[in-house]
Amino acid sequence: MKNIVILISGGGSNMAAIVKTAQREDWAARYGARVAAVISNKASAAGLVFAREQGIPTHTLDHKTFASREAFDAALAQLIAPFDLPGQPALVVLAGFMRILTPGFTGQFQGRLLNIHPSLLPAFAGLHTHQRAIEAGCQVAGVTVHQVTAELDHGPILAQAVVPVLVGDTAEVLAARVLTQEHLIYPRAIARWLQNN
Ligand code: GAR
Repeated sequence: MKNIVILISGGGSNMAAIVKTAQREDWAARYGARVAAVISNKASAAGLVFAREQGIPTHTLDHKTFASREAFDAALAQLIAPFDLPGQPALVVLAGFMRILTPGFTGQFQGRLLNIHPSLLPAFAGLHTHQRAIEAGCQVAGVTVHQVTAELDHGPILAQAVVPVLVGDTAEVLAARVLTQEHLIYPRAIARWLQNN
């Protein structure tokens, strides 16, 4: 069984979309894959409730209790280790995980570490993507699924979706329009990765 480990920090709507698609499309039978664990760096992350309701093991690793990014990432890798077996490497999926990962961590999981970022990369890496797209006068915005490398919000692009920026859009309105596309392209990109790996 290929183990998918999903990392979240908040609402977890992308994680829920992945879990629901995996159930609906029977990824266990189709790809020999299952969502094996959901890990959050915040105990209050609403997504943890959904994951538990689905019977998925959850873990919280509070980054504030670690002295350095390296120490946090080492503990994170330890939590993932039981799902990362010889011949059966885990697929680690960042879904609204709002921590910058160290090169040690991204290197360890290179090629099997995916992220979703709410902009059309390489435009608007980093935070406040929707506000920045509106302020720049962009007529389209969107979302990118990419492989994670040591450089923040870079790495090979696996999927993108485009939405219009409409007159009068606020960052919140645009974010909601983008999020509906996130829920479609992230499960699709993961399914493709599972098929090819
Ligand atoms: C999503 O819009 C995701 O693209 C974004 O956070 C949101 C999480 O929503 N991620 C980033 O900004 C990463 N830099 P969710 O918790 O409901 O999936």
